[in-house]
Amino acid sequence: MKKILVLLMIICLCACHKEPTMEEKLAEVGYSEQDIAFIMSLDQNKQEKFLEGLDERSLRFMKLEGCIDDNLDAYLKYDGQFDDDKVVELVNRGILNDGSLSSLKELYSSDYYLEKNEDLYLQYLDQYDSVRSMIEIVNTRRYKELFSDIVLNDVSKNYLMLVNKYYSLPSDYEPDDLVEVPSEYGRGRVRQVPFEAFVKLHDDALEAGYDIRIVSAYRSYDYQQGLYEKYLQVDPQEVVDTYSARPGLSEHQTGLCMDVSLPGLSIDDFYLTDASVWLAENCHRYGFIIRFPRYKDNITGYQWESWHIRYLGVEAATDVYERGITFDEYYACFVED
Ligand code: DAL
Ligand code: ZN
Repeated sequence: MKKILVLLMIICLCACHKEPTMEEKLAEVGYSEQDIAFIMSLDQNKQEKFLEGLDERSLRFMKLEGCIDDNLDAYLKYDGQFDDDKVVELVNRGILNDGSLSSLKELYSSDYYLEKNEDLYLQYLDQYDSVRSMIEIVNTRRYKELFSDIVLNDVSKNYLMLVNKYYSLPSDYEPDDLVEVPSEYGRGRVRQVPFEAFVKLHDDALEAGYDIRIVSAYRSYDYQQGLYEKYLQVDPQEVVDTYSARPGLSEHQTGLCMDVSLPGLSIDDFYLTDASVWLAENCHRYGFIIRFPRYKDNITGYQWESWHIRYLGVEAATDVYERGITFDEYYACFVED
């Protein structure tokens, strides 16, 4: 009888000392049932790593589709800087490191970040003076050689249509609501709504002491061609391209812009006047912007034109003015589909 009891005790002790299973060990470390199921689906090496100190953060990354085991340390290093998926993607692509971290943070938090341009931003990340300049260059397609990739613009955007060195108008495009400018406001033809806006601008400017008038407004494709060719008699093409649009690429063909000046004053001297300062500071209230601002020729492709105003409507013009950006970039970020 005694012998049987001793035997039973030995059996009992053996049973009590049974090695715990992997699942039990993981449960003991604190993993949930769901996490344990995931860990058990990994190979044994990895399962053991979880017992050797891999933590919840590692588990989070390992559950992601693109996770590469060798990059785990890097994921953990940049954990929390971006969404987990983005950390994995950027580390895997060799883009995220100590040198690029601050640029990438600026990029992904920029108001002007466009998802469709992500690969280009990453390609050009450190190739311009600042991350902001790079974003501006990419958004406005200025990283491309000028005139190398011109597409037809979207005239359905109406007052917000974009015409520049990348977006053209068909040669036969002519707005159907052009009105003749009465001589007290200058000369030429312009679309109806911009004309009405200009009348208000003109009248308020006059009260402030500035008789701002339209010198040139709508120009047909053929007219612009003649103008451009005339300039080519005087300057080399690369110079002409900094101040005159090629036919089909001139905003003047939209009927939405105007060159303005004071009576008897050449537009080239308009920037010297107080009227030009008044115009730059106030034209957005009437729906206009200075389309080719100073120091923005790297974006617009044209020298500063203090006299060239473009109608967008009050809301967009005020937004462009307050943001201090070009219409080229505004279009890319807030108008283009
Ligand atoms: N001067 C402007 C750029 C034009 O020719 O349309
Ligand atoms: Zn102009």
